[in-house]
Amino acid sequence: MNSVPANRRLWNRISSAYQHAHDPQIGASPRLWGMYSVPDAHLGALGDVAGKRVLELGCGAGQWSRSLAAEGAGVVGIDLSEAQLAAAAAAMGEDRYPLVQGAAEQLPFADFSFDLVFCDFGGLSWAPPHRAVPEAARVLRPGGRLVFNVASPWFEACYDEPAGRVSTTLRQDYFGLSAIGEGDGATSYQLTYGDWVRVLRGAGLVIDDLVEPRPEIGTPNGYNETDPPDWAHRWPAELLWVTHKA
Ligand SMILES: C[S@@+](CC[C@H](N)C(=O)[O-])C[C@H]1O[C@@H](n2cnc3c(N)ncnc32)[C@H](O)[C@@H]1O
Repeated sequence: MNSVPANRRLWNRISSAYQHAHDPQIGASPRLWGMYSVPDAHLGALGDVAGKRVLELGCGAGQWSRSLAAEGAGVVGIDLSEAQLAAAAAAMGEDRYPLVQGAAEQLPFADFSFDLVFCDFGGLSWAPPHRAVPEAARVLRPGGRLVFNVASPWFEACYDEPAGRVSTTLRQDYFGLSAIGEGDGATSYQLTYGDWVRVLRGAGLVIDDLVEPRPEIGTPNGYNETDPPDWAHRWPAELLWVTHKA
């Protein structure tokens, strides 16, 4: 299935409203992961990036890329949506970095181009992982790292579609998790734990860690309602994979 055209249309259509709603949270300070803005300083997932060649896969308005460029990384931001890339260009700081339009499924970069490929609910949430993970691995140099944050299967399986919130009841089949319709053909993706392991290992990646960010009680979810409100303090809402290329 090719979800590139529909995902591009979706993100071009929602970019302005999305940035209006979420940029203040995503960009509040450097290196905040996910729906609960858990600081990387608490998780230690990304590591030192100074002097490294870094690719953000599905960079959106570039809140992460901007921070890493300021830390001295040679960052490239890639995104499918020209509206999202325009938001990134408009928000770029003094430390300029290149923005490229393209899809995580077919990266326009040579093999071994990067020391670190990463994203936070970016290309590995919005492109089929069995295509995007091998592409990310291809552009990494041996020893380079792929680090990415996605929704957890728990979160997806407990999502109560009619109520529009995450609940404590299993609503979706765990073994049915793969493509999630986002309207008008747009699609996001999720895998079971076992399928993530197989896709990562199949691409020649070594799994160093699976961090499960745990927000403090009272930390708001900037994107979804949950019932109970402290859902993500009790169950893992996100998976932060830390891997490297063998
Ligand atoms: C939720 S944003 C992630 C960016 C940022 N971390 C954030 O949280 O806003 C998802 C981004 O993925 C981009 N995207 C969607 N499908 C993509 C694909 N196949 N390849 C690359 N980027 C894609 C969208 O245009 C959007 O900017």
